[in-house]
Amino acid sequence: MGSKSVPLTSLVKTSGCAAKIGPGVLHSVLGKLPKFSDPRLLVGFDTSDDACVYQISDQLVAIQTVDFFPPMVDDPYAFGQIAAANALSDIYAMGAEPATALNLICFPSCLDIEVLHQILEGGYAKVKEAEAVIAGGHTISDPTPKYGLAVTGFTHPDHVRTNAGAIAGDVLILTKPIGVGILNTAAKAGLLSDGEQKQIIDIMSTLNKYAKRCADGLTVHACTDVTGFSLTGHAIEMAQASGKSIQIDTGAVPILSQALDYAAIGIIPEGMYNNLDYLQDKFTLGTALPQNLQDVLLDPQTSGGLLLAMPKADADLFLKRMEDHNSWSRIIGEVTDKKEKPLIYF
Ligand code: CO
Ligand code: CO
Ligand code: CO
Repeated sequence: MGSKSVPLTSLVKTSGCAAKIGPGVLHSVLGKLPKFSDPRLLVGFDTSDDACVYQISDQLVAIQTVDFFPPMVDDPYAFGQIAAANALSDIYAMGAEPATALNLICFPSCLDIEVLHQILEGGYAKVKEAEAVIAGGHTISDPTPKYGLAVTGFTHPDHVRTNAGAIAGDVLILTKPIGVGILNTAAKAGLLSDGEQKQIIDIMSTLNKYAKRCADGLTVHACTDVTGFSLTGHAIEMAQASGKSIQIDTGAVPILSQALDYAAIGIIPEGMYNNLDYLQDKFTLGTALPQNLQDVLLDPQTSGGLLLAMPKADADLFLKRMEDHNSWSRIIGEVTDKKEKPLIYF
């Protein structure tokens, strides 16, 4: 019989989006596979976008994504909420709303089945908040628990937001603070207070639905969400997909200050080193930055915020609308013509 007293994260080596295979390794494998081509596939994975876009008619595209990972928190309900918010996010990042979701579950036989029930309840709560439906799922027995969703959304082709349309002069907005990967690592070491734990659960389980909707009707040239490849990695992907460079003012980036403290004492997820390895020659530091700040900029995020490139006037309207939802959203930089490196921090 299973036991409920086994903490979820004790069954896991790397958690959340930090458990992703590193981008360098992943790209080397994907690059060797045959390419599919279909004129109806408007966005595939060549531009490292968040989800694929498939044209159904002149008026309608389907957007599909899948995301699942091992727990980064011990509370099964919170884990379910975070995994669902993270999976739904790629649909919002593409400018659409989710319609159907399918559960993906790996669950160990050593755990009480009530734990599974709570994970799914957390997921259901977020899918309900997203105004989508759970339409099915698949469950397998696995020593390391994992949960997530395959999600489909629909929108008009003109409403799709890719990461590839940023233009010089756009400002860049980030809607959630970074540093949760480091804080999840600190939590696993038992270092977080209850208040700190609650704060990061709140941030990770917040749907990007609100940020997506606040941008509706405004001009958005490019959009993505910040997840496992860090702010640095996702900003570089946007710059490269758009054929531009991005400048980010590190002083303007919303950062969880405790993440800087933990990074300073070496509490850093393995995924940060994978990101550094893959990204180090793709960005420059305009000024010398403290090591712990560099670590946070490369920290793999779980269920991070949206990163949007918009004209300044639209950005100001967006930030005004976002005031009702969170106090983290800010302008963190701007898009420029293509320079030697895709990303410059100053
Ligand atoms: Co994404
Ligand atoms: Co994703
Ligand atoms: Co996108």
